[in-house]
Amino acid sequence: MPRFLSSRSDSRLILLPWQLPLETWPRENLVALPRGISRHVVRFIKVGASVYAAKEVIENLALHEYRMLTDLRRLDAPAVEPVAVVTNRVDEDGAPLDPVLLTKHLEFSLPYRVLFDQGVRPETVTRLVDAMVVLLVRLHLIGFLWGDVSLSNVLFRRDAGAFAAYLVDAETAELHDALSTGQRENDLAIATINLYGEFLDLESGRMLDPSLHPLKLVDSIMQRYRDLWAELTGAEEFSGEETYRIENRVRRLNKLGFDVAELDLNTTQDGSTIRIQPKVVDAGHHSRRLLRLTGLDTEENQARRLLNDLATYSYRTGQQEGDEAVVAHRWLTECFQPVVNAIPPELHGKRDAAQLFHEILDYRWYQSEHESREVPLIEATHGYIRDVLHSLPDERQTLTQIAPHADERLPANPFDPSKGFAEDEEPMPADPWDTGEQPAVDPGFLDIAALRAKAKRKKR
Ligand SMILES: Nc1ncnc2c1ncn2[C@@H]1O[C@H](COP(=O)(O)OP(=O)(O)OP(=O)(O)O)[C@@H](O)[C@H]1O
Ligand SMILES: [Mg+2]
Repeated sequence: MPRFLSSRSDSRLILLPWQLPLETWPRENLVALPRGISRHVVRFIKVGASVYAAKEVIENLALHEYRMLTDLRRLDAPAVEPVAVVTNRVDEDGAPLDPVLLTKHLEFSLPYRVLFDQGVRPETVTRLVDAMVVLLVRLHLIGFLWGDVSLSNVLFRRDAGAFAAYLVDAETAELHDALSTGQRENDLAIATINLYGEFLDLESGRMLDPSLHPLKLVDSIMQRYRDLWAELTGAEEFSGEETYRIENRVRRLNKLGFDVAELDLNTTQDGSTIRIQPKVVDAGHHSRRLLRLTGLDTEENQARRLLNDLATYSYRTGQQEGDEAVVAHRWLTECFQPVVNAIPPELHGKRDAAQLFHEILDYRWYQSEHESREVPLIEATHGYIRDVLHSLPDERQTLTQIAPHADERLPANPFDPSKGFAEDEEPMPADPWDTGEQPAVDPGFLDIAALRAKAKRKKR
């Protein structure tokens, strides 16, 4: 009898064929979704409308990873959500099978190879790198030593014009009260080796823009990490007359998306010098504010964008003096919800609601510039659905849905990308999700900076 270790279990999981090695599970239990490279057998399993990631791994590692992911959840860090560890598995002949770690499938997430395979511009690589740096800094701030920092162990989600990174593999992790500089440096050394290898790999697969160099990319990651760490944790000293610098520091941290929970402030006895050092900083400054005001749970940059729109709405409708929560509720019902409601249900799998709203705001800006008039939001929504959304690849879809044509190359085993394609003699390590026909989208279309530059050039 398999045993489930779980804090909140889904009883439908009990009926799954645990007596079979994960590799031989019947297709009706599986769903083919994009997946990164891994040493263990990993499958996405479907029970009702829920999708879980299942990893077959030895018992102590499965339990350790489950606990680490549970701790990360408690500490509100971006990581996949643990669901259960299934132990005591035996096959039909009574031989023992490795336990399975179950996590909730992270919706709308993309492994890096899927992104690179679509062809990413150098600016996008910078954004991915930034997301990775923020993730690493956030983990280090809470005392989490990762031990296996790599692109394959991260999932990316769109976050307005940027990306948010989530940890997906915590097998080697350790949680401490705080990390020493040496421990952090150790994680950075591992990151350097792994990321360098991964970028080289992308380069040899011609998936890296020729203007980018693996070594320079890795160096820039290290530099960005050090800069962000210094800004979030470094001490600052100034004269007693410059007290405004305390406020400035807090504002800078807020701008980076962090709140100061504890600030260490020291003054010399005569008050001539002040020394400040943030002691505890919490990520999610904007997303927490948006959640409090509207109940919308979004990524940080999406929240920033939505809060800006809320501020514009409040100004436009003369409600600046009104109660913040009341105005936010009006914005939600008059602006946000009508847009989301206008999206046909069959297109909901393309983007999450906050991302859609962000992209529609970009579209409206572009259209307004183009037509030299203020395009109403709902008109922009319909234009966006027509011109953009229809042609975007579905980021929540399954392989069977995106590659239904018989003339397309079929994977040997759609649930295991490492098995390559049916007609290949040698297995190819490509993820078949990538072979789904991706409609051409002008990559600059939703890049607000590029659009602004384009509009400026036109005006001249
Ligand atoms: N909850 C999840 N949601 C979405 N994708 C997931 C999830 N869990 C795992 N994956 C996908 O499966 C891949 C492999 O998972 P994971 O890194 O945990 O396996 P692994 O065998 O331990 O890897 P490694 O070779 O680094 O030890 C990930 O890169 C990710 O793409
Ligand atoms: Mg991994």
